[in-house]
Amino acid sequence: MAPTRRDFVRQVTGGIIGTWALTAIPETSLARYIIANDQSVAGDDETFWQVVRDQFPLTHDRVYLNNGSLGPSPYVVLEAVKKAMTDIDISGEYGGWEAARPRLAKFVNVDESEISLTHNVTEGINVVASGLPLKRGDEVILTTHEHAGNALPWLNRARRDGIVIKTLKPAMTATENLNRLDDLITRRTRAIAIPHINCTVGQVFPGKEISRLGHDKGLFVFLDGAHGPGMLNLDLRDTNPDFYATCCHKWMCGPKGTGFLFVRKDMIGICDPVWVGGGMSTGWDMTTEPPRLEPLDPTAHRYDFGTQNASIYIGLGAAIDFIYHVGMDNIIRRAKGLAGYLQSELLKLGDKVEMLTPTEEQSRGFVTSFRLKNMAFDKFNEYISGKGFRIRVVPESHLNCIRISTHLYNNYDEVNRFLDEVRKVA
Ligand SMILES: Cc1ncc(COP(=O)(O)O)c(C=O)c1O
Repeated sequence: MAPTRRDFVRQVTGGIIGTWALTAIPETSLARYIIANDQSVAGDDETFWQVVRDQFPLTHDRVYLNNGSLGPSPYVVLEAVKKAMTDIDISGEYGGWEAARPRLAKFVNVDESEISLTHNVTEGINVVASGLPLKRGDEVILTTHEHAGNALPWLNRARRDGIVIKTLKPAMTATENLNRLDDLITRRTRAIAIPHINCTVGQVFPGKEISRLGHDKGLFVFLDGAHGPGMLNLDLRDTNPDFYATCCHKWMCGPKGTGFLFVRKDMIGICDPVWVGGGMSTGWDMTTEPPRLEPLDPTAHRYDFGTQNASIYIGLGAAIDFIYHVGMDNIIRRAKGLAGYLQSELLKLGDKVEMLTPTEEQSRGFVTSFRLKNMAFDKFNEYISGKGFRIRVVPESHLNCIRISTHLYNNYDEVNRFLDEVRKVA
């Protein structure tokens, strides 16, 4: 008889590590659940974090410091995807992706009716940039530090409809950024559309205060949240933007090609769906005269449609479980601790390093960006790749800097080895 899920959970194959249980599901699986039992784990508890690292197939042949681009998944996610994919092809049954909506809603503390399923961040951004009621001359505020995924949909709206894009040049503190944002708002401003955390230097913008400022001035507030979930203890009800677009394939370490768009309830009737299809209308009928489209689905489901790959959204559930099992606060302690250590060691190199990521606690996360006085960013990339490190450089916005991401599977030894290389060339 096939073992039941309960049997799997009972199998404690790795024994007890401190107060944390390590269980397998199932026996043949490479995946292990690490149950932190809601315990607080120190950011430098190497025994625990080594067990976490062991849950990732990520190669040991090089040091991966590029989670800001792509978050490798643990075995438990990969196996969930593979199993779901196989099950679907065994049964031939349609559907199953809807299961992700309530899971995501709970993860970021909103209602499931406010979640639209997307495949990446850019898709969600396009829904908002093309669907907001904006007209020629209306101003939208972005920053000079955009990823193409946020810049292009708004620039395209400008090209098509004549909206005007204004840019905020990020300062190093949250307060100064709020002041600069306030200064940019004019009578013609209609929306703020900036990153919650930028891709260039990993700066965390004060989302809640930006939402408040925007709403006080009667503006739409959209946050590009590519780096939010999995890096922050994200509570979108509290942050309160009107829209938040993100993906699950970065810091959530979920399946690639999963994402979601949060649309606050009262915005669902305001943001017009531009691309439409099966599932987003509850009443379309081609036999009436004239044929009709409406009513549209009353939830944020009106922004997604058509057949989806259920297996990746099912795998996403496993990624959310994995985060819960390790504990979001624990992950923050570890990954932000690594980033903070890296930053403080780099700062010790004085004027040989130009630090671009803010040092202010609330404005930094798991990403550290800097320039070297002695070596151009692209030369450094060549050098460090040769030493077995995968990093990202940032040519965007002519920043020409080096970007290092640290996440839950990285460790202090890797950061120290990276620092040794930096010291050699600096
Ligand atoms: C800030 C930011 N916005 C948007 C994107 C685009 O994300 P995606 O490729 O998932 O659409 C990225 C990707 O790195 C990003 O960092």
